[in-house]
Amino acid sequence: MTNGRQLLKNSNDELKLVLGVAGASGSIYLARFVKKLLSLKGETHFVVSPASIRIFREEFNCKISNPKELLDYLIDIYKIETIQNKFHLKNFNDIGSDIASGSNIWDATLVLPCSMKTIASINAGLTENLIERCADVTLKERRRLILVPRETPFNQIHLRNMLELDRAGGIILPASPGFYQMPKTIDDLGDFIAGRIFNLLGIDAALFPKWLDDQSQ
Ligand SMILES: Cc1cc2nc3c(=O)[nH]c(=O)nc-3n(C[C@H](O)[C@H](O)[C@H](O)COP(=O)(O)O)c2cc1C
Repeated sequence: MTNGRQLLKNSNDELKLVLGVAGASGSIYLARFVKKLLSLKGETHFVVSPASIRIFREEFNCKISNPKELLDYLIDIYKIETIQNKFHLKNFNDIGSDIASGSNIWDATLVLPCSMKTIASINAGLTENLIERCADVTLKERRRLILVPRETPFNQIHLRNMLELDRAGGIILPASPGFYQMPKTIDDLGDFIAGRIFNLLGIDAALFPKWLDDQSQ
């Protein structure tokens, strides 16, 4: 199956994205992705699981308790003054939301980070919350689905679910930063993954230097 694998956009187009956040470690990847996304023109439907709020709180050692506070926290720590992207905060449990229906058109659904539980649910075709429903709609409408799992080690259930999701047209982008760009900070590691996600969305976000032949000398 090749649907959803072509680049979506040229650099002048505005991205319409569903951004789901599931309960896996890796809040830094979300934080760096959102930092850049807020500076890009477009529209984002933001769906956040309760488990992810808890994990974000622990990983950033902060006191947030809902999606709005999470977003405000990022705007605050990154001192973001100009927001270009229109964020819609969606209720995780609202399976009657507009984005629960394929009649509403968006370009891509990203789950960042993605837990093994959400991977399993999407692969099983369960649609018990808005993240799972949007992922399901994205596959059935042949749109781009990007899942950023974070777990280690994997068991065979995880591996099987991810292989089947790839076969169904999804893209598995593991939270597995490269080190050949000589990252110096945790933000650099976050930017590497965020940048690779933007690449899959057809956007050159220039978050890390491109590999050049002469770097290998
Ligand atoms: C501190 C903490 C870290 C976790 N890290 C991971 C993880 O890296 N990967 C994962 O698959 N699950 C992880 N979990 C477990 C999930 O949060 C749990 O399975 C949850 O039910 C996922 O629900 P959701 O996908 O609907 O958010 C973690 C849980 C906690 C409390």
